[in-house]
Amino acid sequence: MTEPKKIDLTGDYLKLARVALSGRMQDVQLTLHRAAKRYRSSDAPLADHLTTLLQESPTFASPLRKQAEVPLPVDVDSRLHLLRVETDPAIDHEPVFAPDLAVALTQLVAERRKAALLNRAGLQPTRSALFIGPPGVGKTMAARWLARELKRPLLILDLAAVMSSLLGRTGGNLRHVLDYAKGINCVLLLDELDAIAKRRDDQGEIGELKRLVTVLIQQLDDWPSSGILLGATNHPALLDPAIWRRFEAHMDFPLPDRAAIAQFVADTLAPVFPEATAWTAPLAVAFAGKSFSDIERELIAARRYAAINDAPLNDRLAILAGNQATGKAGRIAVATALVDHGLVSQRKARALTGVARDTIRNRTAPKRKPPRRTKQDTP
Ligand SMILES: Nc1ncnc2c1ncn2[C@@H]1O[C@H](COP(=O)(O)OP(=O)(O)OP(=O)(O)O)[C@@H](O)[C@H]1O
Ligand SMILES: [Mg+2]
Repeated sequence: MTEPKKIDLTGDYLKLARVALSGRMQDVQLTLHRAAKRYRSSDAPLADHLTTLLQESPTFASPLRKQAEVPLPVDVDSRLHLLRVETDPAIDHEPVFAPDLAVALTQLVAERRKAALLNRAGLQPTRSALFIGPPGVGKTMAARWLARELKRPLLILDLAAVMSSLLGRTGGNLRHVLDYAKGINCVLLLDELDAIAKRRDDQGEIGELKRLVTVLIQQLDDWPSSGILLGATNHPALLDPAIWRRFEAHMDFPLPDRAAIAQFVADTLAPVFPEATAWTAPLAVAFAGKSFSDIERELIAARRYAAINDAPLNDRLAILAGNQATGKAGRIAVATALVDHGLVSQRKARALTGVARDTIRNRTAPKRKPPRRTKQDTP
């Protein structure tokens, strides 16, 4: 009978630390895999534990791993990777989708989850969708959300970046990327799809662009129903109608309305700020017409300011609301909302927005809560 191998935990720990600090995930996994094998005879529970952890590890279990032998497509000359790969797409807060959009995206997920029902009805799931909307309203985020819901890797091809100065290469690159993505059970996002159209003003390149459009059309036609191909654009009018038509679903990503902004403000502030609820409605008024990413940036800037100056976030948010207000009607709406929600006094609202106190008095609800005291209000 052979003696169980002695475990050198200190040595193994140091070795693992060295490999982990090199940042090469695959080497870390290999080291753990070998250790689990060695521990099997002398410490089976430890070996089991390690094996389970490895199996749960996203990069280990990912469909991309099966493709590990197939290298990521690179630009022929620059050798730069053409694709951004998110093996395990994560989002740090849940997206707020307009009601129609939420229905359409949920349907896309349900079609994949209930593929058998579609099959029985002689139907295929939606293969492709075009996301249309201004910057910062969640097109990329929705692609990430879809990939996460479907537990698939997300591959992002930024067309503006791929359309290198040498336009002639773009067609080849595009074919290269789509061929690669077809072999993986993934969500592929063609970002900035209108980049193909935007350069049409350059007369010298019209022939190349036409060829590029043809390549894209062929690739869209050949896309398998097992994959999900998404396109995103800020300028739908610039897209070639033939490309537009090839996307089976068209989804509009509007700028957030008041309810969506309120929801987003609540989601962003509630986990970090106990008084968040009082702010959702006034900030929804102040941020009218802004994108989610603009709003997010402003809220983070306010939090940063409050944190490093040890100042009340209430004060910073009041200033932020005042600064956002534009036009006479906008300023009056913000001043009224701040006073109506008991966040500042009429005098402070006037200082923040420039709206006369008489106007504020006339517009605000007659029975309002006493103004919340902030550091600046206290004598
Ligand atoms: N609908 C949304 N719900 C919650 N957060 C959002 C939403 N849209 C945008 N955000 C926030 O703004 C950031 C930027 O959004 P995203 O990259 O998805 O915009 P986009 O529509 O793809 O813009 P672009 O056209 O510039 O690529 C996100 O990471 C997220 O934090
Ligand atoms: Mg985007």
